Amino acid sequence: MPTVLHQSNLPGLELIHRGKVRDVYALPGNRLLIVATDRLSAFDVVLPDPIPGKGEMLCQISNFWFGKTAHIIPNHLTGTPVAEVLPPGTDARLYAKRAVVTRRLKPVPIEAIARGYLIGSGWKDYQASGRLCGIALPKGLRQAEKLPEPIFTPSTKAAVGAHDENIGFDQVVATIGADLAEQVRAATLAIYTWAAAYAAERGIIIADTKFEFGTDEHGKLYVMDEMLTPDSSRFWPADQYRVGISPPSYDKQYVRDYLETLDWNKRAPGPKLPREVIEGTAAKYAEALKRLAGITLD
Ligand SMILES: Nc1ncnc2c1ncn2[C@@H]1O[C@H](COP(=O)(O)OP(=O)(O)OP(=O)(O)O)[C@@H](O)[C@H]1O
Ligand SMILES: [Mg+2]
Repeated sequence: MPTVLHQSNLPGLELIHRGKVRDVYALPGNRLLIVATDRLSAFDVVLPDPIPGKGEMLCQISNFWFGKTAHIIPNHLTGTPVAEVLPPGTDARLYAKRAVVTRRLKPVPIEAIARGYLIGSGWKDYQASGRLCGIALPKGLRQAEKLPEPIFTPSTKAAVGAHDENIGFDQVVATIGADLAEQVRAATLAIYTWAAAYAAERGIIIADTKFEFGTDEHGKLYVMDEMLTPDSSRFWPADQYRVGISPPSYDKQYVRDYLETLDWNKRAPGPKLPREVIEGTAAKYAEALKRLAGITLD
């Protein structure tokens, strides 16, 4: 059985951030303990019901990709076992599969998005302007169509309650400088291209994905946070992919589709989820983990 954790409780450790999904604690030696909880956010609102085991699945899928892509870019993992840093008396089993000990990095203040297909906000922007983050695209592309080549489409990291906004590369340069901007773009496209090929062999299309990067005290760039999970990516089963529609997916679209059937204004507090939607969502995450990483959690 997966463990269930809506909110972590680690007395003695300094909680520095409770995000929508992760609880982040400071550790000595400029390190962090990052705990992926079972909280589910949709439309940027955290819903009242946790999805049992979701945090474990997110953490395990990220760890899988961090390992697989270490030849492309260094990542924030330190390799220190989680059990070593938990306060005495903690139920280690609750944290074993959902937490990691990481380097504490200085976050690069943009969302680094790679897109291989035209969907979501990318499709919206293209329809409105024929462009995406300042990049001109061929005319006549249809919804979900594969792009001639993957593109880097950064967005702002919005404050709590606000939504991220797509920005041009020039704005990234203005925010973080040309050198770091080039490094982030190159790393984003390199990881996406490698992972998309890996997933394609397993029958999954990675339509797009978001990375977060950070720098250490020497300015060296690392990929951090989560990586290529159903929360940060659109995963489409290749056998159900068609151009002209929004293909079914393993990501949060399932729960978003349910929420769209409700009369909810998309502001907190979010609605309770029926049991079948909770179970259906957990099953989607489990299937993504199994198909991509070959991991089953039990
Ligand atoms: N190695 C790291 N060093 C520093 N910060 C990190 C590292 N890895 C992840 N983070 C930060 O930890 C937080 C993880 O929390 P979570 O993913 O729940 O946040 P979020 O809800 O997506 O966004 P927000 O931070 O705005 O609440 C993020 O703010 C992320 O940028
Ligand atoms: Mg996050």
